Amino acid sequence: MWLTIVFVVLLHGYCYSYTAPSYTNETDPYLGLSPPVYPAPQAKGSSNQHWADAYSKARQLLSELTFEEKVNLTGGHVGRCVGNTAAVPRLGWEPMCLSDGPSGVRDFEFASGFPAGIHLGATFDKNLMYRYGKAVGEEYRDLGLKIALGPMGGPLGRIARGGRNWEGFSNDPYLSGAAMGRVTKGMQETGTIAVAKHWLGNEQEERRRAELGKGEAISSNIDDRTLHELYAFAFMDALREGAAAVMCSYQRLNNSYACQNSKLINGVLKEELGFEGMIMSDWNAVYAGVASANAGLDLNMPDAGWWGGNLTDAVNNGSVDAARLDDMVVRHLAAAFYVDLQAQKAGSIHRPRSQDQTPLVAVTTEHDALIREIGAAGTVLVKNKGDFLPLKNPRFLTIYGYDAESRPNPWGNNPGIFGGGPEENWAWNTYNGTLITGGGSGSTTPAYVISPFHAIVERMAAVQGTVRWNFISDNPGPPYPDADACLVFINAYASEKFDRVSLTDEFSDRLINNLAANFTNVVVIVHSAGIRVVDPWIENPNVTAVLFAGVPGQQAGNSIADILWGDVNPSGRLPYTVAKNESDYGELLNSTVSEGPFPQDNFTEGLYIDYRAFDRDNIEPRFEFGFGLSYTTFEYWIQNLMSEPAWTDHREYPNASRPVVQGGHPDLWDPVLSVRVGVGNTGTRAGYGVPQLYVSIPNAPKMQLRGFDRVGPLQPGFMRYETFYLTRRDLSIWDVEAQSWKLQNSQDYYIAVGASSRDLHDGTVFRPSMADQVLDKKQKSQAFVEARTGL
Ligand code: NOJ
Repeated sequence: MWLTIVFVVLLHGYCYSYTAPSYTNETDPYLGLSPPVYPAPQAKGSSNQHWADAYSKARQLLSELTFEEKVNLTGGHVGRCVGNTAAVPRLGWEPMCLSDGPSGVRDFEFASGFPAGIHLGATFDKNLMYRYGKAVGEEYRDLGLKIALGPMGGPLGRIARGGRNWEGFSNDPYLSGAAMGRVTKGMQETGTIAVAKHWLGNEQEERRRAELGKGEAISSNIDDRTLHELYAFAFMDALREGAAAVMCSYQRLNNSYACQNSKLINGVLKEELGFEGMIMSDWNAVYAGVASANAGLDLNMPDAGWWGGNLTDAVNNGSVDAARLDDMVVRHLAAAFYVDLQAQKAGSIHRPRSQDQTPLVAVTTEHDALIREIGAAGTVLVKNKGDFLPLKNPRFLTIYGYDAESRPNPWGNNPGIFGGGPEENWAWNTYNGTLITGGGSGSTTPAYVISPFHAIVERMAAVQGTVRWNFISDNPGPPYPDADACLVFINAYASEKFDRVSLTDEFSDRLINNLAANFTNVVVIVHSAGIRVVDPWIENPNVTAVLFAGVPGQQAGNSIADILWGDVNPSGRLPYTVAKNESDYGELLNSTVSEGPFPQDNFTEGLYIDYRAFDRDNIEPRFEFGFGLSYTTFEYWIQNLMSEPAWTDHREYPNASRPVVQGGHPDLWDPVLSVRVGVGNTGTRAGYGVPQLYVSIPNAPKMQLRGFDRVGPLQPGFMRYETFYLTRRDLSIWDVEAQSWKLQNSQDYYIAVGASSRDLHDGTVFRPSMADQVLDKKQKSQAFVEARTGL
């Protein structure tokens, strides 16, 4: 059905009318079907000089390997890590250790617990994303681990209650992509192979795998356009930055298991996106030997699975081409050579990937400081009545809630994926302590945790203040009316293996309501592995301030204290939409439950997840995507727009004569438009502005994020410019018929900047002749400069 909504945006004098998309995937003939794409493309090593050099080394080594050694390299082996590749001792080729996870080395001592992906996404800071990748990569390197099982771009976060959304950066593909790219770059510059996972469509935990007695895994049925514009989008950024490995996912995609899906691996990843590295399976995610080999899988994890001797037979009897086996191995070897070259170029120290190296300590004071910084930068202030925060030299504080302190877990302290120790499951319910990460393989096992209580007590002790607390009760007394503030810490846990059953919990809501009934200055801090609904208590006048403090890692306490005391001015932005009611997420609240042997999950919403759906349906969220307050205020405007040469050639599709490189067609990454954005601090404190640029692409969702950064610190009255470069990909839609990204040259693009997806301060229509508007913008900027700085 063709759905048309018309609305008018009046913004700085521009009239803009929006017609909701003509595209619906219900008529897609391929939805739920995965076309065969054979044979597997052989990697060329032609993307750039680094890949070429890596491939010449890899081919040389390949030529010295025996058939058995080659087969041996295609499967995992028992070793000190959750996954281990084969060695070739004869030739001095060392095994590679693969370790979880995306937010720091897990299950090793003396390793840091970094903030989880969703927390990094909330910083909206590209530089922090890069530094994060580098620091995580350094920890792998210093522990002799070659392969980091992250970053994570899927699940993207289609389902609000998805169990693993927090491991990724945002349910917006552009924000997620920016982080995927920068984290990959940072990691690999240390010589650590980044594994972009999970390829693709693992959007729920429910029946993610085949289960005995139940049947096959769920099939994520995704139409071609949505697959490109939403789910593969962020992976493109990681590939562009050279991701040397990818992990395929557990579930089926369009009814074919992701690790043996030829369209997904041979077609999209290797052919269309020019992937030069190796694709490994998720752990035991392979269901057939010959099919997975021919569909393009390169490495079977954690053991050889259906390969090993069977692969030997399959090559011998011709079911799998010998050239396919060579391609698996050369990709594997080249991946390692490639990151070594990247590290060499970046000047990173080299450490052997053996067990007996020293030091086996990865934590550093620099990493500690970075974790604290990101912990604060990813904290989102959503309510601050009467500028109550930052606290004004408090002398008496009360602290409530199970999330304030780290508490011993009665299950013991042995890390383990799901058994849980305190390192594993920081506070998954009212029983445990503060939440610094989520559960499962994306969790961390940090050397230590600084809890909020610890950090706050330190600050209060320094001024001989008083602190009273209760971490157990949901109705703690007495009320202490003389306290300067009542800080209440709650959390919302999520984990691999299961989806959430609620975006709230009754205990925490009761606790807040009871406190707000007795006290006027209640400050709520929510540590949450994903969305947490905060209605109706958010409207209680005694709930003075509310902070979404995410999953901030091992420096959780110091990070939140830095915000509460105002040492850091909050600049975090929500990387998802917080609804007023859980039901506002509609069909995208819960995972699909299906009892049948071939469960189906039709992604009929297409491109319309999270804010794209709220915008289409005109649902007012409690806090929109991109929202976040500061202790100061900002103005944002468009200074000017410039057509870059790639746009002025007016080509609708990428130039077919340029060869594809890793990351996709190279034209896709050419900037076609640059937008210079002004950011001015209109308040009274120094702080970071976070300009966000949204584009209304014709025949697509109303507004889509296509530029952002965290700018500052800016002193009051000062301004700065930031230039956003919009690439051909950023402005294109995936044309299903042409099987290519299409720039809609003859149509108007509406471009807006502002403080969030619903707080747009300035906008314009982009079309080839922009002269008048450019002039207009310059005048506006000048006026700000004159008013604020007296120039
Ligand atoms: C399964 C998870 O899905 C994946 O993300 C992880 O890297 C592996 N297990 C190894 O622990």
